[in-house]
Amino acid sequence: MKQNTRLVHAGRAKQYTGYAVNPPLVRASTIVFDTFAQLKQATLGRGNRVPFYGRRGTDTHFALQQAICELEGGAGCALYPCGAAAVSGALLAFLQSGDHLLMVDSAYEPTRALCDKLLKGLGIETTYYDPQLGAAIAGLIKPNTKVIFLESPGSLSFEMQDIPAICAVARQHQIVTILDNTWASPILCQPFALGVDISVQSATKYIVGHSDVMLGTASATEQHWPTLREQSYLMGYCASADDAYTALRGLRTLAVRLKQHEHSALKVAHWLQQRPEVETVLHPALPSHPGHAIFKRDFSGSNGLFSFVLKQGSQQQVEAFIEGMAHFKMGFSWGGYESLITATMQLQKLRSASHWPYSGPLLRLHIGLEDVDDLLDDLTRAFERFLQAG
Ligand SMILES: Cc1ncc(COP(=O)(O)O)c(C=O)c1O
Repeated sequence: MKQNTRLVHAGRAKQYTGYAVNPPLVRASTIVFDTFAQLKQATLGRGNRVPFYGRRGTDTHFALQQAICELEGGAGCALYPCGAAAVSGALLAFLQSGDHLLMVDSAYEPTRALCDKLLKGLGIETTYYDPQLGAAIAGLIKPNTKVIFLESPGSLSFEMQDIPAICAVARQHQIVTILDNTWASPILCQPFALGVDISVQSATKYIVGHSDVMLGTASATEQHWPTLREQSYLMGYCASADDAYTALRGLRTLAVRLKQHEHSALKVAHWLQQRPEVETVLHPALPSHPGHAIFKRDFSGSNGLFSFVLKQGSQQQVEAFIEGMAHFKMGFSWGGYESLITATMQLQKLRSASHWPYSGPLLRLHIGLEDVDDLLDDLTRAFERFLQAG
């Protein structure tokens, strides 16, 4: 099956849908049994998508878990109340006190905070590594290194990581690899084919796609699924059936939405490359991007999220740029149908293992589904305000 067909069919096995097109929304805390034999069967069915207790899920959750596995290629998928919980749940499933973690320096900022605060407090040591490291990551491995965490492209800065090279080294040392695969969604990168053990998604982003639900997923290989599943269950991670249903609905249009986001984002990226105020555009699908070869090798397409760096600009100028925009709203998150913008004045402050080569402010855009000419007009006026404030 090709991608669009897979998106139509994913998670829609007859056992979930019954006579309807979509798996029905089944809300439950308590699951009831008529006989001890049924109860025993449900208890033993742990991990096999058998209803047992609401926290383990209903057919709505099972359909979504099945869909994510079909799309990403994992053997099993755990659901979480948000992407940040999926990151912490995946890490805590494979790390214990006294262990060492290798964390990519370009990780999503709250993932860094988790390492520096909660994991540190639990006695788990983190070493940050340069996102450009491939097989050379071997030099950072210690006897107690248990997990290597990747995120590609990097949050805000969009460095591409050599996922297969890092995973090959990790396998040689029996180290678990966890990839934050949110940028790719479940369809632009096949993490398990690249050697990843655990793939995390903030489903809040493109899977749900409408900026109205928080949800996370973590999928695992056959080998690592039992541990991920058990640890997630022990920690009490679960998601609401309504949110799982919304995510299933979002999946059906994921590919067509992504195509439009990609098309418009590339148009805006090319336009920004012509602006004299712009130092560089950080979009891995541009041939000028340093990670473009890796992007072409490992990804089948791009989306609406990328950054650009200004040659220079004061806080006041950046405020003038962003405040007053008609279509780009200032806000975190991304992956919905609407355009967004955020600014970071000093990216180097968020780094400890790699040098950030630019001194100007970085602006991150999420290009939504608006008409791209309206977005370009909005950006043109933003540059006018920026220059006037200078
Ligand atoms: C790359 C990445 N990972 C994880 C998360 C966390 O996801 P959530 O907001 O669903 O907790 C985000 C959110 O912005 C993200 O951008």
